[in-house]
Amino acid sequence: MIVDLRSDTVTRPGKGMLDAMMNAKVGDDVFGEDETVNELEQKTAHLFGMESGLFCPSGTMTNQIAIKCFTNPMDEVICDETAHVYRYEGGGIAYNSMASVRLLYGDRGRINPDLIEPNINPDNIHYPKSTLVVLENTVNRGGGSCYTLEDIQPIYHLCKLKNLKLHLDGARIFNALTQTGDHAKDYGQLFDGISVCLSKGLGAPVGSVLLGSIETIEKAKRIRKVLGGGMRQAGFLAAAGIYALDNNISRLSEDHKNAKALAAALKELPFVIKVMPADTNIVIFELDKKHDAEDFVDKLLNHGIKCNTFGKQMIRFVTHLDINTDMINHTIEVLKKIH
Ligand SMILES: Cc1ncc(COP(=O)(O)O)c(C=O)c1O
Repeated sequence: MIVDLRSDTVTRPGKGMLDAMMNAKVGDDVFGEDETVNELEQKTAHLFGMESGLFCPSGTMTNQIAIKCFTNPMDEVICDETAHVYRYEGGGIAYNSMASVRLLYGDRGRINPDLIEPNINPDNIHYPKSTLVVLENTVNRGGGSCYTLEDIQPIYHLCKLKNLKLHLDGARIFNALTQTGDHAKDYGQLFDGISVCLSKGLGAPVGSVLLGSIETIEKAKRIRKVLGGGMRQAGFLAAAGIYALDNNISRLSEDHKNAKALAAALKELPFVIKVMPADTNIVIFELDKKHDAEDFVDKLLNHGIKCNTFGKQMIRFVTHLDINTDMINHTIEVLKKIH
């Protein structure tokens, strides 16, 4: 048995999704003529109470386009030091937007107005202009920690007051909504941009949708083109996204249950010194100093369990659509055996 806990991006489309893809009505999306892409963009925008959407090949692209839409060269972006936009997008903020970044040290990646406000630069030529705050929900490096709408509202008010834009990296926004019970519709009022990934927990093979006002998305379309992200008969991929939105949201609670079972088992192991709370589908844990994360990953691999290191003594497990209860039980049995 192979149990792939490296990421929720490893899922493969099942029969229902493949059928939807093969039956998609397509056209040239650069001409705006792909009706399936148009449907996905409208559906996602409607779901989040936003005006418009833009289908892109990846979450990195939707985030980077948003940052470029909301900043000018020499501006500064405020985000947590764990943020994907800062850590894992290849220095894209500097390269694409020529902006600097002010890093905050939040609670498992979650920031708040008390942290943000003192880091908004005064209007003075010595300082870069603070123009954008980026939140991530759920926070990948925070072990799938999430913000509630109540947490986000005061951040929104501060941004309004200080004339800053607010963008959400919602790569795993549906995991956050599953955990908090908040409604997607209420997000549209709080954010200027939202990136929604279809290829993580939702199980589509490719794609993210950037949401914003009509004006923002018009600008975003120009930036997507210049980045080479204008796709032609992309409806085959958008159909997978529509299928994922219709079929794969309600089952995310199973992934969360599986993550909790793994976390509970890990807490019992003598060589595991810390397990982050498994709030959603990510479990990050720390081995004692006698264990090296790389060696531990290799040992698990010998039993067919794939996972990633997350630091010298840190490991990450991610549960997803292609992980079932038997696989979780097998992983727990293996964890009990190895040391
Ligand atoms: C929090 C977060 N944001 C953005 C991305 C980028 O998505 P993509 O891999 O589609 O570029 C990821 C990828 O795993 C992610 O975890």
